[in-house]
Amino acid sequence: MRVLVTGASGNVGRFVANELLLLGEDVVVAGTSKQKLTELFGNDVEAVTLDFTRPDTFKDATENIDRVFLMRPPHLGKAKDMYPFIDHLSERSLQLVVFLSLMGVSRNPFPPHYRIEKYIEQKHLPYTHVRPGFFMQNISGVHAKEIKEQNKVCIPAGNSETSFIDARDIGLAIAKILHQPEKHHDKAYTLTGKEALTYHQVADILSNVTGKKINYEKPSMLAYRKYYIEERQLDPTYVTVTMMLYLMTRLGTAKAVTADFSELTGKEPTSFKQFALDHVAAFK
Ligand SMILES: NC(=O)c1ccc[n+]([C@@H]2O[C@H](COP(=O)([O-])OP(=O)(O)OC[C@H]3O[C@@H](n4cnc5c(N)ncnc54)[C@H](OP(=O)(O)O)[C@@H]3O)[C@@H](O)[C@H]2O)c1
Repeated sequence: MRVLVTGASGNVGRFVANELLLLGEDVVVAGTSKQKLTELFGNDVEAVTLDFTRPDTFKDATENIDRVFLMRPPHLGKAKDMYPFIDHLSERSLQLVVFLSLMGVSRNPFPPHYRIEKYIEQKHLPYTHVRPGFFMQNISGVHAKEIKEQNKVCIPAGNSETSFIDARDIGLAIAKILHQPEKHHDKAYTLTGKEALTYHQVADILSNVTGKKINYEKPSMLAYRKYYIEERQLDPTYVTVTMMLYLMTRLGTAKAVTADFSELTGKEPTSFKQFALDHVAAFK
C-alpha cells in the first residue's frame, strides 16, 4: 500500500516524501499544482491533485492509500477548512494519519491546529500528532528578503528564545513514524532543535556565516503587521496567525528543548549554525 504526502511541495512535505522514498516506501505526492510536484519529484513519483477546499479532488487522491501525512496550508486559517478532508479520511481504512501540528498546542486552544487534532481524534482515525517548534526554514524563506536586502531580521519576538528545528529533520522523523505505523498509534511528539536561541543570537550566527553585519531590532507587533501586509503584501490571515504565534513566543512557549527527535531517529538535530551554512545563498 501507499503513503499519501499532502503539501508535498511545502517546507516539510518535500522532506517527508524524499525520506519515505529512501526507506523504500511507495509514495504519492499531493498538492494543488501537479506541475510543481512533477518539477520537484520527477516522473517516477506519482503526483495527484489534492485541494482541501475542493472535495471533488479527494477520492482520486486517496486511491489505494493506507497512511497519510496531513498538513494544514498556512493560508487556511480556520480549523474547519480541514474538516471535509478529515471526514473523507475517516471513511477509509487507514493505518495512520500523521498530522503536522504545532509545539505547545495541547495547552493552547487558539491556533487552528488544536481543533484539528481534536477533530482527528473524534473521528477515531489512528493518529500521530507531530508538534514541531519554529522551522529554521522561516528564516531562509519568508524572512530572507529583509536579511538579504536590508541586513536585518524582521520578526516581532522581542528578547524571547526559540528552539528552532530544521524542516529536513521534521521530514525524517515523520517518515520514520509512517514507516512503522503500529509503533506510533495515538501518540504525540514535540520536535525541537538542540538549543533555544534569541533572535539576537540568530542575527549573530547569520552575520558570522554571511560575513556581513545582520541586525535584530526587535520590531513591534504593529510595525511587523504593517510591513508584512502593506509592503510585502502577504495574506492578512497568515500575518495575523503568525502575530499570535510570536505573541506566544514572547511568553516563552517556543523555547522548550525535547529529546523526541533523537528518540525517533537516533540522530542529533541539526544546529542553527549548520542550517545557516547550508542555506547561506538565501541570505547574501
Ligand atoms: N513555519 C513554522 O515555523 C511552523 C512551525 C510549526 C508548525 N507549522 C505548521 O506547519 C504547517 C505548514 O506550514 P508551512 O509554512 O511550512 O507551509 P508549506 O508547507 O510551505 O505550505 C504550502 C503547501 O501547502 C499546499 N497547499 C496550499 N494550498 C492548498 C490547498 N488548498 N489544498 C491542499 N494543499 C495546499 C501547497 O501545495 P501547492 O503549492 O501545490 O498548492 C504547499 O505544498 C502549517 O500548518 C503551520 O502552521 C509551521
